[in-house]
Amino acid sequence: MKVLGIETSCDETGVALFNSATREIVHAVHSQIDLHRDYGGVVPELASRDHIRRVLPLVEDVLARAHARRSDIDAIAVTAGPGLIGALLVGCSIGSALGYALGRPVVGVHHMEGHLLSPLLAEPAPQFPFVALLVSGGHTQLLQVERIGSYRLLGETLDDAAGEAFDKAAQLLGLGYPGGPAVSRLAQFGTHGAVTLPRPLLHSDSLDFSFSGLKTAVRNAVRQATNLCDQVRADIALGFVEAAVDVLTAKSLKALRQCGSTRLVVSGGVSANSQLRERLLTEAERVGAEVFFPPPALCTDNGAMIALAGWAALERGVGVAAAGQVPAIEVRPRWPLESIGVAASG
Ligand code: KG4
Ligand code: ZN
Repeated sequence: MKVLGIETSCDETGVALFNSATREIVHAVHSQIDLHRDYGGVVPELASRDHIRRVLPLVEDVLARAHARRSDIDAIAVTAGPGLIGALLVGCSIGSALGYALGRPVVGVHHMEGHLLSPLLAEPAPQFPFVALLVSGGHTQLLQVERIGSYRLLGETLDDAAGEAFDKAAQLLGLGYPGGPAVSRLAQFGTHGAVTLPRPLLHSDSLDFSFSGLKTAVRNAVRQATNLCDQVRADIALGFVEAAVDVLTAKSLKALRQCGSTRLVVSGGVSANSQLRERLLTEAERVGAEVFFPPPALCTDNGAMIALAGWAALERGVGVAAAGQVPAIEVRPRWPLESIGVAASG
């Protein structure tokens, strides 16, 4: 089956064609970074307008590179939430219209389920069950995953998401938007131990996270620096990265212990972070666990993960507008991931 995936929940337009028989993916992403840079963050109305301009040309580009025609598309998967409502509406409207015109089923996908399943597109892919650490710009969650559709929330951030904390730290260090990769690069020039920042909730029993205090600590370190030269900025960046990575790693290992699992899946934009990857791989090996990440190009938002999650939903017959009907995909700017599964959160 060939599933067209469309992702427009935030500031990236992603389109992909996923062939479930061959596992082949052809995908294209247009990033709106340049559009939002001057504002220091995503401007929702500008995001929606740009998605409108980008989706169909990206669909044509993906079909051409896959040597496929529109009529070869068997089903369409679109991100239905969570995200910016205007941006989501663009993808859902275009996906629904395409599905209706082609007479193909349309399925609304949860953006974080897309991230969660994206490591299945890597080699080797994880087997179920596993523990998932989702770290993106809007979410930081630990989940116990029995199988596709069974997501039990173990813990989540009480305030800022991990990616949001990276972006805010970047802003405070004068690195612009989006900041995650820039903070990570700057930290590579830092001196270990020069700046030590707090590790919120590190020793608490719960699997929840908190990153807003860490952000404040970065602000204070910047303010207190007598000479904010490149080296001091790099030291602060390293202090921030080490604190964030420490907490994410410790809670992930605690979740593995609690669930009696030896498989950790890490996804979402921050899973591209080299310091986090390195640390998780080292610590997991120490306790005899395996860690799985998405392919590097599929860590941040993309259409391939939406096509994959859409295909999985079609297999289960969940959330699908059948071919021939006018698809009515409910757009959900707020949408708890665990509510789509069969397991209760706890
Ligand atoms: O998953 P994603 O593309 O979008 C959301 O669903 O939010 O994640 C974007 C987030 C941003 O906060 C970005 O700064 C962060 O992921 N990010 C990184 C890295 N690459 C992206 N954070 C740290 N290190 C990176 N290499
Ligand atoms: Zn995302």
